[in-house]
Amino acid sequence: MSDISLTVNGKRVSGTAEDRTLLVHFLRENLGLTGTHVGCDTSQCGACVIHVDGKAVKSCTMLAVQASGSNVVTIEGLADGADLHPVQAAFKEHHGLQCGFCTPGMIMAATDMINRHPEGLDEATVRAELEGNICRCTGYHNIVKAILAASETMAKGARRKAKQAA
Ligand code: FES
Ligand code: FES
Repeated sequence: MSDISLTVNGKRVSGTAEDRTLLVHFLRENLGLTGTHVGCDTSQCGACVIHVDGKAVKSCTMLAVQASGSNVVTIEGLADGADLHPVQAAFKEHHGLQCGFCTPGMIMAATDMINRHPEGLDEATVRAELEGNICRCTGYHNIVKAILAASETMAKGARRKAKQAA
């Protein structure tokens, strides 16, 4: 057993887990953050994507002990109080989900994708970058639409902030 302490969604948390415990299980079972899903046992589906130190990570591919000391954000930490994150708002507006099982991982992967492409995204890039996230029911079309719309919204927000700061 190991003591694990990390920051999750802005709060310091700690717990004890077996060395073999995966980060996704630590989040779900020790911390009760069940928004991060487990959809496979082959590291392929992407339902478990979270952010670790600002980067998208499949939390089923990382041990909880490896995340000790890290700054983790899960789907539960993305909204700003009652205000949805722009990616969440775009998924809602463009109907980027049906059953919703893949959605937390999709949104966390999409947020990271947009952050890495502040200049904007095109459809081919979004589709290529979604390779690690599987959705069994939407056909991806509205997910791609939502990500493109969120990218546009976030780029506009960044331009507005830069103008105000100038
Ligand atoms: S549960 Fe992590 S990739 Fe499927
Ligand atoms: S919305 Fe059902 S798996 Fe993606």
